[in-house]
This record gives sequence, structure tokens and C-alpha cells, in this order.
Amino acid sequence: MNGRLECAFEPFRVRTPAFVVDEGLLRENLAVLADVKEQTGCRILLALKCFAMFSVFGLLKTVLDGTCASSPHEARLGREEFGKEVHTFAAAYGEKDIRELATTSDHLVFNSFGQLEKFGSLALRTAASRGLALQLGLRINPEHSEGAVPLYDPCAPGSRLGIRRKEFPGKNLEQISGLHWHNLCEQNADCLERTIAAVEKAFGPYLPQMSYVNFGGGHHITSPDYDRQLLITLINRFQDKWNTLVYLEPGEAVALNCGYLVTTVLDIVAGDGDIAIIDSSVPAHMPDVLEMPYRPHIIGSGAAGEKPYRYRIGGLSCLAGDVAGDYSFDQPLQIGDKLVFSDMAIYTMVKTNSFNGIQLPSILLYRPENKKLQTIRDFDYGDFKTRLS
Ligand SMILES: Cc1ncc(COP(=O)(O)O)c(C=O)c1O
Repeated sequence: MNGRLECAFEPFRVRTPAFVVDEGLLRENLAVLADVKEQTGCRILLALKCFAMFSVFGLLKTVLDGTCASSPHEARLGREEFGKEVHTFAAAYGEKDIRELATTSDHLVFNSFGQLEKFGSLALRTAASRGLALQLGLRINPEHSEGAVPLYDPCAPGSRLGIRRKEFPGKNLEQISGLHWHNLCEQNADCLERTIAAVEKAFGPYLPQMSYVNFGGGHHITSPDYDRQLLITLINRFQDKWNTLVYLEPGEAVALNCGYLVTTVLDIVAGDGDIAIIDSSVPAHMPDVLEMPYRPHIIGSGAAGEKPYRYRIGGLSCLAGDVAGDYSFDQPLQIGDKLVFSDMAIYTMVKTNSFNGIQLPSILLYRPENKKLQTIRDFDYGDFKTRLS
């Protein structure tokens, strides 16, 4: 995970807790993705599972070609709010999902031959009856791990994600126009290079009949150390070799380092050391910190022991492990201070929950041209209550 050393807006202007997304930083990421598209002709989709702040879709769709969805709800959001192409993949579908997805998706990707055989024709018929041109794809498992954390490695032993090579012989691929894989997580282009070699070796006989191949997400394209030139070379080489169109579907790379979670220190309690309690919660507002796990960066902080004043930063919930980590600061923290966590646009808003009834963070957009902070959405008791019954 990356961290910015500063934010362009003044945190004291923000009513907390709140996510703030900086539109200027999104534009910088889009420029990088636009360059990849220009130099390859590939298509790039936004992975909604990572970032689905639809108030900025107008900006994102100036560069990106559409969205990739993991469920009927995400596909509908992509169709209604983004437009352009919608590609959907889920580990399995029910019949109701298929009937809906056939009308909201342009590409529907199956995770098994069993599901393709059961639902492929139904999906195509449903789409055709509405005058829609649906295409079907298969998710393959390249059986090539690149060292991602096992929780995020779809090629880990025992994975349920993707069809293995040994299942292909004798299968009917007539309805299939694309293959899809996803095996990377915050990784560089050398990992993609080795993955492509593994895919070509295993699935080479099937590639010539595919009009598109989707390389999935996990490409950290907008990270400063990413080898963009290698990515461009790999895409061009693959497209030329197999006479096909490459899709990428990054989530992180689109909004990497573009957002913040602004919080306020509510209390400072004495544990084995000083603990600052903020008006946020790690499991409710930044659950990946516990899931991955990682230590999010707080602007102006250092590692524990690096600066003179050391604090553990903890959240509001009952969970004993509701702790972001141990940090140090140049000045003692005071009740009322704002603490700004960086890189909080991705896998946050899409994952928040109201555990313990904790207030959901507002969603704000910062526009650098006029230094305006626009509140896009506040949440209240009604949002908590309507998810219960
Ligand atoms: C199938 C698929 N596509 C795309 C993504 C987006 O990955 P990232 O946000 O790491 O780019 C994921 C993430 O889990 C995924 O599972």
C-alpha cells in the first residue's frame, strides 16, 4: 500500500468521518491509463468491486471503456451510471442472475463448463429477445501464482476461481468469444510477463479462436515503480501474436492514492502506552487493514518510535483488534485533532459496513481548480436502519 505525504485540502474543513477523493489525482491516474490505451489499443475497464463512486464516473469514462462487475447489482450500476461496456464475472450464477445479467452486461464470463452448459443458451436467448448482443467468456485458472498474499491469490492450491487446462479437452467452445484470467494483486509487469507465458503454454491451442482476452486486475499501473513500457510491450506482442483484443480490468490502478479518510481524535486513553481513539473504525471503514493486513499511512506520522510522540490509533467499535497501528508524531496529539489516512479511495467505500451502528463516513470530492470540497453524500440513522428489519 502507498501513502501520500500530504493532502491538497485543509482537513479541519472536513466534518468527520469522511472519505475525500481528489479529482486532480484521479486525472493523473487516468492520464497514465490513457497512455497505455493509446500505445496498445487495448481496452481498460474499471473494477467496480474496488471503486464504485459513481459521482466521478463522468470523468472516468472520458478514458475508460466501461466497468467490470461481480454481481447483478454491480452490473446494473455499471450499465446505469457508467454506460459503455459492462463485463460480468461471478464464481457462480443462479437463473435469476442470468436473466438480469443478460440485459445489463455486454460480456458474461462463466467460472465452469457446468455453468456455461446450463446457462449459456439462456443468457444468449434472453439478450437476443431484447435486441442485445451479449458475448460469453470463460474464466481460466492459469495455475501460475505470483506470490500474492494467499487470501488474494486465485491461483493458490484449491482455488475455486477459473477453469483449469485439464478440463478443456472435448469441450464445446462454440459460444465462447473470450477468455479471462485474474491472478495478480498490486503487482508489476514482470509478474504479468510470466503469467502470459504460463497461459500461452497451457491455453495456446484455444487462443486463436478468441476475439478478446482479459488479463484481469491487480496491475499496479499507476504506482510510481510500475514498468509501464513492459506492460505496453506485452499487450502489443500478445495482440499481434494471437490476433485478439486485450482487456485490463484494474480497480486499484484507477483510484490508487486518490482518496483519504479524514477522522477526528475523540479521546486519548492510557493503555500500555497512549492510545488515540478516532471517530472511525478499522473493521467498519477500512476493513482491508485487518483483512490484508496492512498498516495504513497517516499524513504527518512516522513509524512507531521514529518521531517523539508515540500513539496507538484505535477505532470506536467493540472489537479489541479495532486498531490501525502504532504511529509517532512531531507534536503530542490533542483531542479534536484531525488524522488523515491516505490511499483510502480503493476497497473502502465499497466495503464499509455499519458494525456497532457506527456512523458511515460521508463522501466528499475535492476539486483542485477551485479548492472546493463538495459533499456528495452524508449518511444517517436511516441508512443504518434500512439494512436491518
Ligand atoms: C476478477 C477480478 N478483476 C479485477 C479485479 C481488480 O483488481 P485490482 O483492484 O487489484 O486491480 C479483481 C480483484 O480482486 C478481480 O477479482
